[in-house]
Amino acid sequence: MTPEIFIKRQCKADTVERTSLIQSLWSGYGEVVRYSLTGQESPSSVIAKHCTFPMDVNHPRGWHSDHAHLRKVRSYKVEQNWYRQWASRCNLSARVAQCYGDLYDEKTGHRLTLLEDLDAAGYADRYNAHNIEYLISCINWLAAFHAGFIHPTPSSDWPQGLWRKGTYWHLDTRQEEWSVMAEGELKSAASELAKCLDNARFKTIVHGDAKVANFCFSPLDNQVAAVDFQYVGGGVGIQDLAYLLGSALSESELTENIDYLLEHYFSELGRELMAQGESQAFAQEVVEEWQYLFPIAWADFHRFIMGWSPTHPKNTPFSQQLTDQALRQLRRS
Ligand SMILES: Nc1ncnc2c1ncn2[C@@H]1O[C@H](COP(=O)(O)OP(=O)(O)O)[C@@H](O)[C@H]1O
Ligand SMILES: [Mg+2]
Repeated sequence: MTPEIFIKRQCKADTVERTSLIQSLWSGYGEVVRYSLTGQESPSSVIAKHCTFPMDVNHPRGWHSDHAHLRKVRSYKVEQNWYRQWASRCNLSARVAQCYGDLYDEKTGHRLTLLEDLDAAGYADRYNAHNIEYLISCINWLAAFHAGFIHPTPSSDWPQGLWRKGTYWHLDTRQEEWSVMAEGELKSAASELAKCLDNARFKTIVHGDAKVANFCFSPLDNQVAAVDFQYVGGGVGIQDLAYLLGSALSESELTENIDYLLEHYFSELGRELMAQGESQAFAQEVVEEWQYLFPIAWADFHRFIMGWSPTHPKNTPFSQQLTDQALRQLRRS
């Protein structure tokens, strides 16, 4: 079925026209596209995320042993599961796009996901540097999202259909990067850091790729909606927070603002938990555990950078100091 025919059916449209390419996907295997629609009952536009990976067998090196490829393929499936089974459970203050349906073609492996056009819904702006209001909106979004999915006793198959451990950098899926790390304390403590996060008492669902580029903003009221749920899964909220802050702020901005931004996240998290009926004592326990885990989550991402690309601009003295703090915490525990 062509995307046009599928859109026509799912959105009850009279006409469907491809209007703009928003972005090509990884290695050119797909695209994010806007379609314009006409019809009494249809929205006036939709966004299609279309993944067109070549089938596994056709790859000369053999895709089955290519972890990066397999991770990507799985990530598009997880994103469809997210929109099918989880997205509608999001807290009102953690806005995501409505999904109009999805397709999976077993023969070609192609996937198509139809999403509400967030630009048309008022979220037409994207992040530009130094917009602290927008960054605060992202932090509020994370707090609402994490509070909404808080889970003190997750079973081993939770969250169903998503990554058991969210984020694209978690150690189990990054063994190649780990093995080429320079020897040292961070490398030898890598699994201990990951275990600390995994063994947290309070788990939630993390977005898993919550950089500012994956948020759409409404310039009128600084409201925000998130996209790109390929690495959504179980975790602790501060994993998203650490990655978000690193994606938005320079080293000096981080040094200057980190205490304030952390405080803001934790007060929003506590407020959201209580707003959904949790006790103050419960909220306090979550906040205290995740405050302790913040340096650990930071170090866990830093571990990925030090294996994947140690000369990356994200390898900063700020990042190294926070990582050292995490390693000291581990030694004491
Ligand atoms: N539902 C949507 N409404 C408006 N813009 C969107 C929507 N989904 C994606 N986009 C835009 O397209 C970009 C790429 O989509 P994304 O899902 O993040 O793909 P990628 O995996 O390539 O990063 C986003 O950063 C956002 O700007
Ligand atoms: Mg993206």
